[in-house]
Amino acid sequence: MDTMKTPSISIILSFGLALLLSSPRAGLAQTSQQEVEQTAELLGTLLNAGRVVVEQNQLLINDPGRGDKGFTPNVFEQSVLTEFAHQTHIDLKAPPASLPPQTKDLLSLLLTASKEVVADAQFVINQRGIGYKNFIPATFGSQAARKFSKRSKVTIKQTALNARGLRNMPDPYEEAVLKRVASQPTLTSPIVEWIDGGRVLRTMLPIYYSEDCLACHGNPKGILDISGYPREGAQAGDLAGAISIQIPVDHR
Ligand code: HEC
Repeated sequence: MDTMKTPSISIILSFGLALLLSSPRAGLAQTSQQEVEQTAELLGTLLNAGRVVVEQNQLLINDPGRGDKGFTPNVFEQSVLTEFAHQTHIDLKAPPASLPPQTKDLLSLLLTASKEVVADAQFVINQRGIGYKNFIPATFGSQAARKFSKRSKVTIKQTALNARGLRNMPDPYEEAVLKRVASQPTLTSPIVEWIDGGRVLRTMLPIYYSEDCLACHGNPKGILDISGYPREGAQAGDLAGAISIQIPVDHR
């Protein structure tokens, strides 16, 4: 049990007048600050939409009796756009003029990366005679996040304390936030913080285990799951990890 009670996090914005007075580009930084936060939120929602679509098609993807699944990059994209529009009321095919161009560009970059992950997996997905193919929301999400991050100064990552994927291991900032969040009641909104004197936005959207996850992440602890990793012994409601997004203010 963690006895160090941390103050409630909610939304911490250490920005403001100090920066406004100290930064030569203060006006610009000030207006773009909200934009950057909105960008992070939309990127997180878009990656999540992809995870949701993979989850919705999991039975199809895992069907050993069927070769061609018809789960093509275009079919995937359509569903992602629908899910994203459902959650944000933004149609990425006809984005509103109010959406800043840079935000739009980053969203298309993530959509492209997400589609590529589905394209790269076509051979695996369409194999007949194999059930579990290790194409699940978590593997999709890590791969899409990694592809996107390589092409952008913005970094998106799925992370967890004791992450399964080595490349998902938390950095010191992520580790501190995950530890803080793990000892608190369920959070439904992301943690949003400006660090490095306001030069870098970091957001962490916590993910919690539901019953569906426990076949792999639940009990018996230590026994290998279908994906070949030892089960964590988690229970429904426990913190699973987070989607972590990092945006340097000058991210052009
Ligand atoms: C079929 C087994 C399986 C199921 C079901 C499953 N996961 Fe995972 N999970 C994995 C695997 C495998 C990885 C490692 C993915 C990678 O290579 O990045 C993973 C990774 C993760 C990660 C990233 C951090 C890490 O450990 O690398 C999170 C967070 C996560 N899962 C949460 C969930 C949640 C929440 C659910 C239920 C909604 C869920 N998982 C359902 C197998 C599963």
